[in-house]
Amino acid sequence: MKKQICLFICIILLLSGCGRLETNDHVEPDSGQDSKNLIVVGLSQVGSESDWRLANTRSYRETFTEENGYYLIFEDAQQKQENQVKAIRNFILQEVDYIVLDAIAETGWDAVLTEAKEAGIPVILSDRFVQVEDDSLYTCWIGSDFEEQGRQAGKWLKDYLKKKGRDEEIINIVTLQGTLDSTAQIGRTEGFRQVLEEQKNWTMLEQQPGEFVQAKAKEVMEYFLKTYPDIDVVVCENDNMAFGAIDVMKEAGKSFGKKGGIIVISFDATDAALEAVKRGEINADFECNPLLGPLVDENIKKLEAGQEVEKIQYVDETYYD
Ligand code: AHR
Repeated sequence: MKKQICLFICIILLLSGCGRLETNDHVEPDSGQDSKNLIVVGLSQVGSESDWRLANTRSYRETFTEENGYYLIFEDAQQKQENQVKAIRNFILQEVDYIVLDAIAETGWDAVLTEAKEAGIPVILSDRFVQVEDDSLYTCWIGSDFEEQGRQAGKWLKDYLKKKGRDEEIINIVTLQGTLDSTAQIGRTEGFRQVLEEQKNWTMLEQQPGEFVQAKAKEVMEYFLKTYPDIDVVVCENDNMAFGAIDVMKEAGKSFGKKGGIIVISFDATDAALEAVKRGEINADFECNPLLGPLVDENIKKLEAGQEVEKIQYVDETYYD
């Protein structure tokens, strides 16, 4: 399956002569590279919306190195699905050996993934899942059980309120959601909803997308505070949105976190957020492991050796409070 890197470089040179591909990592022929039998990986990344995403990108870049037998073509989609579709089409033209996709949204992939399948290029889904008619359009998916993260967060809140003797109180909740239609948003929202549905005294006042971005989350949190004077819990579907919510609560003089006031729940458990947990600003943070590079590598190495890989692969995660 693996093709010679020289073929790949020829195609790149050809394409560069007839309207350069818009890649983030410009592929330049490197002396001696053609003699190396590298595995060419085209990776389409969502963007750089969060600290988690930066750690995830770092993990791929540290994994798909020449020393490890790879030639990586990295494309940052800057939060636009159309850029991801364009990147995949370019990877097909470049005859890469594997396509790795961190999809911004779950829907809208049937056509382009069919093109990849017809070109005989295996697609590995990493982090985010896609909903397609035909599951042979991707080889495997590796990532977090986002729905379980949401359920864990709900269960944690239930136990916490009980410990505080508040299990009979009316509990008003708002949610800063991630990018709508992304696996992380769908799973976390749904998992939390399942627990909420069983609590008669919990009310979800409103859910609004903050796009996994701190600045956008600030706008939404300002609106929440103005609209609802009696918020008990803010569920932030990632750490950067929790930082945005915390900024707003500080500016508004609201008490929050372990000192009392608004309970803050977050997801990702990045280093900075764990510091916020220690300071008592975030009550509980549910881990989402960004170090997916080595797991994708493991799968590619198995496929190269002609072995089967598991279709759905969850990573182990925990939480911090
Ligand atoms: O898909 C993983 C999510 O995407 C992370 O929770 C978030 O920080 C990122 O942007």
